[in-house]
Amino acid sequence: MPGAKSRAASGARDKISPAIVRSVDNLRAAVAGFHQDGHRVALVPTMGALHSGHMALVAAAGEAAARTVVSIFINPIQFAPTEDLAAYPRNDEEDLRKLSDAGVDLVFMPTAGEMYTAGFGTTVNVAGPGVGLESAARPQFFTGVATVVCKLLLQCLPDVTVFGEKDYQQLQVVRRMVRDLDIPSDILTIPTVREADGLACSSRNDYLSPMERPTAARLYEILQNMAERLRASGDVIAEIERGMIALREAGFDGIDYLALCDGESLAPLLEAKTGGRLLAAVQLGRTRLIDNLAL
Ligand code: PAJ
Repeated sequence: MPGAKSRAASGARDKISPAIVRSVDNLRAAVAGFHQDGHRVALVPTMGALHSGHMALVAAAGEAAARTVVSIFINPIQFAPTEDLAAYPRNDEEDLRKLSDAGVDLVFMPTAGEMYTAGFGTTVNVAGPGVGLESAARPQFFTGVATVVCKLLLQCLPDVTVFGEKDYQQLQVVRRMVRDLDIPSDILTIPTVREADGLACSSRNDYLSPMERPTAARLYEILQNMAERLRASGDVIAEIERGMIALREAGFDGIDYLALCDGESLAPLLEAKTGGRLLAAVQLGRTRLIDNLAL
C-alpha cells in the first residue's frame, strides 16, 4: 500500500508535500477521497511545535494506515485565562517541513473561527478518568480536550487515531469518550518518547532554563525509583510520601499531584498492583511538567 512509510522508503518522499487544509469541508472531501480509493486513514491530533514524541505518533500512523492526517490546532478552550495560550510555542514552517519529510498526506490547520463558530455552545464532559489529577489544577482542561478531540474525530472520521502515553489521563479520557459516544475510530497508543536523560519530550520543555534542565530530568528518575519500590513493598502511602520528599529535595517548586491510580479508570489505588499507573505533575520555575509510569 502506498502509505507514508512505504513512499518514504521508496525515496519518493522529497517530491511529496502534504496538502494543507484549513476548512472542515475541504478536510471531509479529502478524507472521503482517501476512503473512496480504498485507503485506511490515521489521524494524529497535535497542537504543533512538533518534537520527536509527535513524530513517533506520525510514524505509528504511517504503519497503521495508508493515509496520514495530522491536525495542528492550538485549542483555546483547553487553556485557562491564566495559562500560556498566547505564549504556547508556534513553529508552523518547521512543523510542515518535518511532516513533509515524514510523508504525511494532509495537514489540517483550522483557524479558531473555523473550529468555534459564533454562538458555539456544546461541550463534552467526561466523568470517570476525567475527574481529579489534572482536573484538580485545571478544571477547564479535559472539557476543552474532549470537545476538540470529539470535533476532530467527527470532522475527519479516521479509521484510527493516535495518542501518546505522555498525556496518560488525556488518553484515558479520550478512550472513555470514544466508547461512550460510539465514535467509530480505533485509538492507537504510543509509549512516551524521552530525551537521553529521561525527560519526556514536550513542547513546553522549551520554557526550561539551562539551570532547570537537569532538575527536570529527575522527575522520571524519581518515578522510576518509586515504581521499583512499590513493586517490591506495595506500601502506597509510605512510597508516595517518600516520593514527595524526593521531588522537593530535587528542587521542584511545587507538586500538583503524585498518585498511584488504576491504569484505566484512574481511581486512586490503595494497594500497588500490576496495571497501576504512577502519575505526577510538578512545577519547575515557570514550567509545569507531567509524567507517568506503569507499575
Ligand atoms: P500535544 O501536546 O501537541 O500532543 C499531541 C499528541 O502527542 C498527544 O497524543 C500527546 O500525548 C503526544 N505526545 C506529546 N509528547 C509526547 C512524548 N514525549 N511521547 C509520546 N507522545 C507524546 O495533547 C495535545 O496536544 C492536545 O491536548 C490535543 C490532544 C491535540 C487536543 O488539543
